[in-house]
Amino acid sequence: MSNTASSLLDTSHLSALDIENIFSVAQEISDRFKQTGSFYKEKTRDGSKIICSAFFEPSTRTRMSFQMAAERLGLRMMAIESGSSSLVKGESFSDSILNLVAMKPDALIVRYGFSPELDHLLPKLNLPVINAGSGVKSHPTQALLDAYTIHLEKKSQKQNILILGDILHSRVARSNLDVLSKLGHQIAFFGPSEFLPKKSEFPKIEFFNSLPEALKWCSVCMGLRIQLERHESMPLSVQNYNEQFGLNKSNLKFLSKDAMILHPGPVNLGIEFTKDVVEDPRYFVLKQVENGVFIRAAILSMLLKL
Ligand code: CP
Repeated sequence: MSNTASSLLDTSHLSALDIENIFSVAQEISDRFKQTGSFYKEKTRDGSKIICSAFFEPSTRTRMSFQMAAERLGLRMMAIESGSSSLVKGESFSDSILNLVAMKPDALIVRYGFSPELDHLLPKLNLPVINAGSGVKSHPTQALLDAYTIHLEKKSQKQNILILGDILHSRVARSNLDVLSKLGHQIAFFGPSEFLPKKSEFPKIEFFNSLPEALKWCSVCMGLRIQLERHESMPLSVQNYNEQFGLNKSNLKFLSKDAMILHPGPVNLGIEFTKDVVEDPRYFVLKQVENGVFIRAAILSMLLKL
């Protein structure tokens, strides 16, 4: 993201340099917070900048992380609640957004599922818009915080990154593929055939047939949640899923000692990962959440020119 870009709707416009620039700003904010307990240089902000958020799909991490970043930056954040907004009276997503925009917030943060009308509307809005996750398409801030977590742990070394699980229905996988490839990492997929995209669409990606082989190959293993809400019907039994396609006590041994285990969350315990995985020292999932606040603060600072 250059400083002149006005929105973050996906990652396609970001160069490797733009991504590294976001990391530098996140690092600056994080260092300042450690040293001074504050996200910004001046002692106070007047709270005159107001952000509106509209989460039309549930969220814990992304929503609270943006809220935390905004409040720490001295911004005010107002949220539209889909359960108690005029959506329940039949208002469309785009009408809701246009009404928020008419109130002249300084930026808008939006999460939504399948909505061609919002795909069409958001790029046309005349204010900074941040995509907090859109359907199966894009989750730019998640990919940036994932890449930042790898960057902090592994410095600039190129990694072998295995994306594991429901790749076909994952916006996180799509955005990560774009961001991590631009940074020079090697990506591979493993998952049930029902959850894999077509190989022909991803000629540079290795598709493993064996989970132990995939785990031995990778230095970072990114598990993905089964996106049940995006399946017409669940094509597999979740009963044996972990054994075949997840991480557990018996296959953790295939990962190297200094491997990183990532997951965007929420983790379905016993399905993608068992309890042994969550307790493993290579599990970085809460570190991802911690780093996410600094990445989102960096993005807000850059877009709002703070
Ligand atoms: N990773 C992620 O998007 O989590 P939430 O759905 O809780 O925001």
